[in-house]
Amino acid sequence: MTLNNKTTFVLFFVLIVLSTLAGCTSDRQEVVKPFKDQVDSLLAVMTLEEKIGQLNLVGRDGNLDSATRIGPDKAEAIRKGHIGSLIGVVGAGFNREVQRIAVEESRLGIPLLFARDVIHGYKTLTPVPLAEAASWDLGAIEKSARMAAFEASASGINWTYAPMVDVSRDPRWGRVMEGAGEDPYYGSLVAAARVRGFQGNDLNLNNTILACAKHFAGYGSPMAGREYSITDISMRELYEVHLPPFKAAFEAGVGTYMTSFTEINAIPATVSRFLLTGILRERWGFDGFVVTDWSTITQLMEHGVVADSASGAAVSLKAGVDMDMGSLAFVNYLKSQVDEKRVTEADIDTAVRRILLAKYRLGLFEDPYRYADPEREKREVLTSENRELARDIARKSMVLLKNEGQLLPLSKSLKTIAVIGPLADDKRAFMGRWKAEGNKGGVITLVRGIKNKLPDANVLFARGADFESDDRSGFQEALAVARQAEAVILAVGESQRHSGEASTRASIDIPGVQLELVQKIHALDKPVVVLLFNGRPLTINWLKDNIPAILEAWIPGTEGGNAIADVVFGDYNPSGKLPMTFPHSVGQIPVFYSYKNTGRPDDGSGSRWVSGYYDIPNEPLYPFGYGLSYTTFEYFDLQLGKPKIEMDDTIRVRMKIRNTGPVKGEEVIQLYIRDLLASVTRPVKELKGFKKVMLEPGESKTIKFQLSANDLMLLNEELKWITEPGEFQLMIGSSSSDIRLEGKFELFQ
Ligand code: GLC
Repeated sequence: MTLNNKTTFVLFFVLIVLSTLAGCTSDRQEVVKPFKDQVDSLLAVMTLEEKIGQLNLVGRDGNLDSATRIGPDKAEAIRKGHIGSLIGVVGAGFNREVQRIAVEESRLGIPLLFARDVIHGYKTLTPVPLAEAASWDLGAIEKSARMAAFEASASGINWTYAPMVDVSRDPRWGRVMEGAGEDPYYGSLVAAARVRGFQGNDLNLNNTILACAKHFAGYGSPMAGREYSITDISMRELYEVHLPPFKAAFEAGVGTYMTSFTEINAIPATVSRFLLTGILRERWGFDGFVVTDWSTITQLMEHGVVADSASGAAVSLKAGVDMDMGSLAFVNYLKSQVDEKRVTEADIDTAVRRILLAKYRLGLFEDPYRYADPEREKREVLTSENRELARDIARKSMVLLKNEGQLLPLSKSLKTIAVIGPLADDKRAFMGRWKAEGNKGGVITLVRGIKNKLPDANVLFARGADFESDDRSGFQEALAVARQAEAVILAVGESQRHSGEASTRASIDIPGVQLELVQKIHALDKPVVVLLFNGRPLTINWLKDNIPAILEAWIPGTEGGNAIADVVFGDYNPSGKLPMTFPHSVGQIPVFYSYKNTGRPDDGSGSRWVSGYYDIPNEPLYPFGYGLSYTTFEYFDLQLGKPKIEMDDTIRVRMKIRNTGPVKGEEVIQLYIRDLLASVTRPVKELKGFKKVMLEPGESKTIKFQLSANDLMLLNEELKWITEPGEFQLMIGSSSSDIRLEGKFELFQ
């Protein structure tokens, strides 16, 4: 006998009232967790099948046509309570209809979660996350995520699979595009900013969405940089490098985590009880839910750790997975695993509670349709305000790598400009791989952006080459166009396909024959600016040696062309700094600024008996934290509060900076420390603070930093975080290798 909706609702309501009354009379021993009673009451009336359905996340059906986002089978599964969340089903009107099926046509009316990979914008796309990280503007990064949440939530989405917080030092791995680069300290700050942006202060609002810290954990160090490869790292690297941004996301209140495809030291993350329960739950106290990455449960058979999907379902649930993305292992096999006593219903209840709690926190039980308002969708998506925000952070993310003879900014009085290269007018490349519902038609390409900036100029365009073919047939046209111009802007780099997931590259040169095209244009001996479009650091050695002006434009998003024109023609002075090292050679990888000194450091003496290479230097092509400006800055007057600081004291640092150049500009002042003597080896420098300041020409400012003993902690031999007394070097600079001021202080017990 099935209860019909009305009976169920009455029963459900009665249970709520009883549990609330009970609560009023009993002396509450435990801390009242919001929604605990509601979750428990609902759980009490759910069948095992309905509980397992809440653990099942499936994708959309068919093509993007709104009539086929979910087919009749999925609609029926929703009615039966066999699906709890959907991914990739978007559109306020459409989601309203699907939600109605869940709420009005299933027995218990439990609302669905609607998820999407809103990684760097929803319809109005901001630059890719690695580019946004180059802005070193945490406020702008948070606002970018906030805007994405506004647009996504207006279109029926209440859960995003972002921020990706994997730290990586391997630019062969295409997914560095999605992260914040190589540094755990900076990556932690960016992770928290993005979580705050997506979730706001109140998940109950209809313009905040559940965030997801991914990919837990250690995905950023795939062996050989190869996608989906194993991660075989020391526990030290796991704790020092990979976990901090995930911890920062937890401390920022992230609602969900996603397991990574990789194994961590021979245990696939999806069945790593150490990670999913030991670290997340027992050590950190996380109370949200864990979703797998796509089909990782069935992939356990490929890993060779389970014999079949039924075992995969049991082992991953026991390890701490709450929701199965796309493999159907939970919905197909968990019931049998309960029958076979490999999992208990209580194990399932634990996962269901976490998911129901998230749905309550989102306010979906109060108003299941709050994220499906077609009128709001029309008003709040791809607005001019959102475009301006995207343009602003795109400007801030660009990094001026070279500017010999101050060739940039170009004059606005130029009459004829040649814009050449496969990236000059490619809308897809400007959106990147995680383009969500990005509107190709709305993308401002480089050519369009320059025409917008200089409406009276004669802007000549030639593609010149493809992204990666060896077709040189376009060279002649490109040379002909360049010959007519007063200046040439070359747009080269990677296509939309070259970075992102499943895009590991063994070579990180500019693909195809694009460099040859640059060399032919360079031979014309005209003023040449190269704009680089890429989702990862590239080995651009020839460009660095021969091209006078190079601007890193990354994958700049919907307003990319306008933002680039703002920078190239001087309406914005570039302020970006690299969040990830550009190697001199792919042979240096992993290469990063916070390296260890070794017992035989390269002391520059030319001796071969030092830690180095036979054929290349140790130094990277461009270091972490590097970026030029159209102006210059002088760092001076470093003052340390006290040379000797007690453990519980604060280290106060102040310095002055002056704009010594012709135009106003922003500088990212970076503070590094080095622990000069410790019980374990320590990096030659570690970023421990930064300030981004705007200065008018001639203006100077006093900048203050504060450090505490916590900022100086190290992981000792027993892998415990401690602070050791001793001497520390303090360095302040314009990049990790451009240290302008130095000092020392001593920490004592
Ligand atoms: C992908 C990615 C993950 C993404 C998920 C859903 O395979 O690894 O980052 O969120 O599937 O699209």
